[in-house]
Amino acid sequence: MPKALTGVRILDFTHVQSGPTCTQLLAWFGADVIKVERAGTGDVTREQLRDIPDADSLYFTMLNHNKRSITIDTKKPEGKKVLESLVKTCDVLVENFAPGALDRMGFTWEHIQELNPKMIVASVKGFGLGPYQDCKVYENVAQCAGGAASTTGFDDGPPVVSGAQIGDSGTGLHLALGIVTALYQRNATGRGQKVLAAMQDGVLNLCRVKLRDQQRLERTGVMREYPQYPNGEFGQAVPRAGNASGGGQPGWILKCKGWETDPNAYIYFITQAPVWGEICKVIGKPEWIAHPDFSTAAARLPHLQDIFAEIERWTMTKSKFEAMDILNQHDIPCGPILSMKEIAEDASLRKTGTIVEVDHPVRGKYLTVGNPIKLSDSPTDVTRSPLLGEHTDEVMTELGYTADQIATLRNLGAI
Ligand SMILES: CC(C)(COP(=O)(O)OP(=O)(O)OC[C@H]1O[C@@H](n2cnc3c(N)ncnc32)[C@H](O)[C@@H]1OP(=O)(O)O)[C@@H](O)C(=O)NCCC(=O)NCCS
Repeated sequence: MPKALTGVRILDFTHVQSGPTCTQLLAWFGADVIKVERAGTGDVTREQLRDIPDADSLYFTMLNHNKRSITIDTKKPEGKKVLESLVKTCDVLVENFAPGALDRMGFTWEHIQELNPKMIVASVKGFGLGPYQDCKVYENVAQCAGGAASTTGFDDGPPVVSGAQIGDSGTGLHLALGIVTALYQRNATGRGQKVLAAMQDGVLNLCRVKLRDQQRLERTGVMREYPQYPNGEFGQAVPRAGNASGGGQPGWILKCKGWETDPNAYIYFITQAPVWGEICKVIGKPEWIAHPDFSTAAARLPHLQDIFAEIERWTMTKSKFEAMDILNQHDIPCGPILSMKEIAEDASLRKTGTIVEVDHPVRGKYLTVGNPIKLSDSPTDVTRSPLLGEHTDEVMTELGYTADQIATLRNLGAI
């Protein structure tokens, strides 16, 4: 069965995390993704954080499924020619090198356009145009520069970066959307275009609600759903809100039974206004339903700490899963704090293909995150990442090179 992007050929000139996340998604949607790697070493992540000697690391394998790998030394003239053949036959070039690297290699936008006017050139960079446009950027730099770190953590502690890779994988997602949008526009115009996703911009897009709060703070001087209210101080910038909910329904992380020994025996509890009466009944505080300090959402705001302390007295008597069962019966929004171990063992995530077991010829079986986006007419089959240069001969043959020419280029070290 053809997939959504069957027929789209991607020249995947990406490395590390941000670019590979993007091209992996495109591969899962059916694009033919040809990963161009440096001859000899390949993507640096192949050997980073290795857990098995001489096997491609999980860092690499989990970001490069469903792709083919060709090794080209694109700094050698003969290698450049091979890359040019790929440019001519692909629809999209995706790259996330440091600013200027593609130009230095001789593959300027103008040159690519001469070779293939339909080509879409998609880039991840750390920053858009501005004072930092030439900077190299990694995940946590983007989280800091995009506003996430200053708004994450607790009021009395330093800025904190999150485990979710919003700078890398988040920007890869943004880029993938830009690419399919450009492909769609190309259907009408016949022209390629440049697509840029800057990591700072991607993180800020995900921190949109914090820019909302900055303006609310400037207008009113106070944000009543933040833990700083009513006893703490607000400064000039949006403060770190701990585990407070980012929306209009107050929430917090509460201890559950076993918290003394299990670092993840916690539940996220949302005091959603429509089910306030149910919450009061479940935690054994029916008198709060009509009490003037608690009966309305606005009245509750100055008392959130007391409210969550009381709810926690109840959650501490239940395991997080028992609490979930009970609260769900009352339509009270909540969620267990799941460890990676629990997620890895979760049967329902395996069933939906969100957690997948993949077999690899060198490392054997491992778990990965499958495609989080499910298309009913384009199901995803996760296949293992390619070995370094595994498809060099295959792709070169498709490009029209003969066996003799391939051998010559190999002797020259161009492939
Ligand atoms: C991630 C990053 C910091 C890594 O920096 P780095 O390891 O120094 O890698 P660079 O991108 O600078 O370098 C690539 C170099 O390898 C060269 N190269 C890459 N593939 C090659 C190939 N197949 N053959 C020959 N040379 C190759 C490039 O031409 C470039 O050389 P140059 O510096 O002489 O121009 C940087 O690439 C970056 O800022 N990228 C944009 C933001 C980004 O995606 N960050 C997230 C990473 S998860």
